[in-house]
Amino acid sequence: MEIIDRAVNKNPDIDLDPRTLGFGKYFTANMFTSRWTPDQGWQNSCIEPYAPFSMDPASLVLHYGQEVFEGLKAFRHEDGSIHLFRPEYNCERLNRSARRLCMPELNVQANLEAMKRLVELEQDWVPGGEGALYLRPNMIATEAVLGVRSSTEYLYYIILSPVGSYFKDGWKPVKIATSQDFVRACKGGMGEAKTAGNYAASLLAQKTASESGCEQVLWLDAQERRYVEEMGGMNVMFVVDGVVCTAPLGGTILSGGTRDSIRILCEDHGVGFEERQLAIDEVLSGVAEGRVTEIFACGTAAVVTPVGMILHKGQQHEVPVGGPESITSTLYRTLCDIQRGRAEDRHNWLVRVV
Ligand SMILES: Cc1ncc(COP(=O)(O)O)c(C=O)c1O
Repeated sequence: MEIIDRAVNKNPDIDLDPRTLGFGKYFTANMFTSRWTPDQGWQNSCIEPYAPFSMDPASLVLHYGQEVFEGLKAFRHEDGSIHLFRPEYNCERLNRSARRLCMPELNVQANLEAMKRLVELEQDWVPGGEGALYLRPNMIATEAVLGVRSSTEYLYYIILSPVGSYFKDGWKPVKIATSQDFVRACKGGMGEAKTAGNYAASLLAQKTASESGCEQVLWLDAQERRYVEEMGGMNVMFVVDGVVCTAPLGGTILSGGTRDSIRILCEDHGVGFEERQLAIDEVLSGVAEGRVTEIFACGTAAVVTPVGMILHKGQQHEVPVGGPESITSTLYRTLCDIQRGRAEDRHNWLVRVV
């Protein structure tokens, strides 16, 4: 793929200390863009200065939400080299999401090349230590027409954000709340696609959860409001009788790259891993009886974050948070060490950029 270079050279004008960066507040100087038409496919690929887009107010994405996106990270190692974590996983998931939303797919290798070229150009913006450079690929429907149908024109772009911790208190246990009134996704819906509508659907429940002092919603299945599925922006796992359990990929939850990495790390560590339906009642009675010993969230942004409390039907249920030898801590450390080059990358998850 030819990438036209219109980039500007700009050194970071922000403090790259991961402790003060927060998440998704700052963007690097340049972005990648590419346009799609039925005749020419993806063309006009370009790295250009980060700037607002000029869009027709009738663009389909603005009315009917035809959009898919991704989120992945690049890490700086102690020797200065920079690596993407499992980028092909994200490229393939983007294509799965695109198929669900009737949007064109991107060649995985061409997309990976675009990511690498952009990150290489912006290498000075990659924070060290516990920080990372977050990549946000996004595809939107740009045809200007008010009919409900799939667009004949698309814009794909990638922007970059130097980030620290997703949660404001860093690696501290988070509080989560179930929602009785709302559901995130139902069978046959769009739950397994990474598309804006799923996040828009989550906002009201998220607001209610925040008002009760919780950071995230723990979504229950849409049909029976009984089985735990995932959280607003991350998957969730439960250590039941020493086995890490998480909801199966039945079409309603996002297939997380971190979820998959944890499945593999559990195998490496000889820890049982099970994908099965888990009722919220089983979770809560398990916590009370000491059978559910740890609960954690996992995702690119959250990495591995312990859950310290579940609010369900107005009742607070304290969840024990293990020490440094807990499964949660061990998985967190192992994943971070691989991502940051401090442990062997046995599964070839890292793709070197520079
Ligand atoms: C709804 C949802 N579930 C799960 C995840 C975790 O996915 P990943 O580990 O690929 O970041 C995310 C984050 O992208 C998400 O938005």
